[in-house]
Amino acid sequence: MTNAPTALDSLTAFSGDFTQQEALPDNAIHAVTDVLRTGRLHRYNPVPESQSVVSRLEAAYAQWQGQNYCLACASGGYAIATALRALGVQPGDVVMTNAFTLAPVPGAIQSVNAQAVLVEVTDDLVLDLDDFTTKAAAHPNTVLLVSHMRGHLVDMRALMAIANDFNITVVEDCAHTMGATLHGTRSGNFGHVACFSTQTYKHMNSGEGGFLTTNDAELAARAIVLSGSYMLYERHGAAPAPDVFDAIRLETPNCSGRMDNVRAAMLLAQLDELDTNLTRWNERHDAMHRAIAESNRLVLPTAVDGALRIGSSLQFRAPWLDAEGCERFMARCSEWGVDLKWFGNPDPVAFTSQHRSWHYVKPHELPHTDSVLATLFDVRIPLTFSVEDCTHVGQLITAVAATIDDE
Ligand SMILES: Cc1ncc(COP(=O)(O)O)c(C=O)c1O
Repeated sequence: MTNAPTALDSLTAFSGDFTQQEALPDNAIHAVTDVLRTGRLHRYNPVPESQSVVSRLEAAYAQWQGQNYCLACASGGYAIATALRALGVQPGDVVMTNAFTLAPVPGAIQSVNAQAVLVEVTDDLVLDLDDFTTKAAAHPNTVLLVSHMRGHLVDMRALMAIANDFNITVVEDCAHTMGATLHGTRSGNFGHVACFSTQTYKHMNSGEGGFLTTNDAELAARAIVLSGSYMLYERHGAAPAPDVFDAIRLETPNCSGRMDNVRAAMLLAQLDELDTNLTRWNERHDAMHRAIAESNRLVLPTAVDGALRIGSSLQFRAPWLDAEGCERFMARCSEWGVDLKWFGNPDPVAFTSQHRSWHYVKPHELPHTDSVLATLFDVRIPLTFSVEDCTHVGQLITAVAATIDDE
């Protein structure tokens, strides 16, 4: 049942800060201080007779994620590039990916000099499986880097069936889906290898950081050596047996991108609270979603059956607006204290960009993606907002939408 949306003149402006994360918990602060006191910040310089904090984090994250191997590294983008290198992607090889994602994704493909082939996205902001089938048929035996952009999970079972038909290796970009599940399986556990980010706006916050997880022992060994393990790979926390390294250790280049013990200490402490925080995000997301669902103008994406998303942001479309109307909508929301991002902006702004601004990628005709992005908005949901704040923001968005006509 839907209620009548609250009118704008009966609402107050919102004063929260959309870029404000929670402080790190005390146990993270103490753990970081303990590392600083030792002076042993490098992952291969642990306190004697002990495992480094990075190695302990890798073991803990591998267990939490449900994969055999985990590499902690410098960033999510670095994890993706490392996954592609470890898979043996060569210059000029095709790597398919969603057209709706953020610049670090095509950037990681470019960093290995591969050729990005962009796949259309649906109205529900996930990879279009029909377009994927067409492109997989045109590029069999290649790689798909599926980006679970803004937490929207595609039907991964259907996607894996198509990938298997065309011998496509699937890399999952889980920068926005740490902890999300589909029919009870964690995102990242469908494909061959998964990449996560712990950059400051993600589900765990170490400023910068990332993970690569997989069950493929040889790929894990290559990724570890690639990350800059010197010949110290035996000191990793969730690594394959030493003999797996024998065949690859001298042929695999060192492209340094290690994590240090300081970041690992703050992440290890946050891992304890991750499940609780994922629930807190969803409570906030659901409150904002309920308020926006009252609009008869705004369109919210529908999740695939069986998906549990992690709502650290929310997206909706304003399909009745042209570009100028979208600008006015954002400006009016801003006057009421609500920061929106708009994916239809022809010029990339802050964190958002779209495929036409990635000039290093061969231009693509993606009419459906373009029509979706043209009126797509994005709002952050930091945990510093209460559930009531999120209802308030959703009410303001809904009420402002009711006042913006396409003139
Ligand atoms: C969808 C997506 N994938 C990958 C990344 C890369 O993560 P990082 O910033 O840690 O390199 C980001 C970062 O914003 C992202 O939004």
